[in-house]
Amino acid sequence: MSDKKILLSGMQPSGKMHIGNYLGALRQFVELYPSYDSLFMIADYHALTSLRRADQLRANIMEVAKDYLAIGLDPEKVVIFQQSDVPEHAELTWIFNCLVTVPFLMQAHAFKDKQSKGLEANVGLFDYPMLMAADILIYGTDVVPVGQDQRQHVEYAREAASKFNLAFGPVFKEPAEYIMENVAIIPGIDGRKMSKSYGNTIPLFGTDEEIKTAVANIKTDSTPKGQPMDKDKDTVFALHRHFSQKDLPDLEKNYQEGSIGYQESKNLLAENILNMIRPLRDRRDAISDKKVIDILKTGGEKARERAEEKMRVVRKAVGVTL
Ligand code: TYM
Repeated sequence: MSDKKILLSGMQPSGKMHIGNYLGALRQFVELYPSYDSLFMIADYHALTSLRRADQLRANIMEVAKDYLAIGLDPEKVVIFQQSDVPEHAELTWIFNCLVTVPFLMQAHAFKDKQSKGLEANVGLFDYPMLMAADILIYGTDVVPVGQDQRQHVEYAREAASKFNLAFGPVFKEPAEYIMENVAIIPGIDGRKMSKSYGNTIPLFGTDEEIKTAVANIKTDSTPKGQPMDKDKDTVFALHRHFSQKDLPDLEKNYQEGSIGYQESKNLLAENILNMIRPLRDRRDAISDKKVIDILKTGGEKARERAEEKMRVVRKAVGVTL
């Protein structure tokens, strides 16, 4: 086995990937993976907390795998796998469940969010942090690259490791999150965090038309052209920071002087997003379903072997191995 530190991250196959996912997570995956022993997971059991259509889930799993490959994760150098191919994650979740309390899990943002909206959370959603802790800890992960919204989940993983170690002896390493501060929270077209569940996304691999329409629909204030615009309150400008580096000094000046309108600013943003996405999208279009299935099969086997090795230690530590 490699002596590199271990990196693991994952994405839920719960809908189309958006540019928040790309900037907050995927791009870091590509930059970081060569320096680590890296595993990238498709969190299909997590997606079951919100998805009830088998055909949709199957299609989404295929999409995430293609996204991973299109952005440049090399299956010869990293392990790409489906969470459900490693049932040991669910097994370890149960063991963590027996170590944590209900009030502890009630602090989770996703759960509190549902509750505050008066919606009923299923037990899977309630237990989401423990499945994610199992995902991370079962591979002895050192670093977890994620967006800001996942910080609390990595904290839960550290807590699970420490509670287990305290009860049964030192088995798990405490992982660290890796969050790029300048892309920690990418805003969506309504100014809130970009999220599949808010329906405010700009799709990463949408068609030209889909991307242009999403950008055209970004909410702005009603400053008329000719008057200075506040770049720090503008979602269009916030996205320019990530896609329009070379235009930024001019844009800043134009915003200050009021010599650009929102329409023009949006057109430039859409063009810059498309210039970045087009080559990746072409690469993605060339990936066959058959290739994906082969890669996931191999990845699943590799991941499972590693998880099984850890679970032998865990089962012994808790006392179920005779
Ligand atoms: P998911 O599928 O919601 O999101 C995938 C990644 O994208 C990041 N992200 C964002 N970053 C910046 N701005 C945004 N607007 C934005 N929206 C999403 C997320 O922070 C995340 O890094 N629970 C995880 C999946 C998961 C996982 C794991 C991750 C399951 N097990 C183990 C790491 C390790 C999730 O729902 O991500």
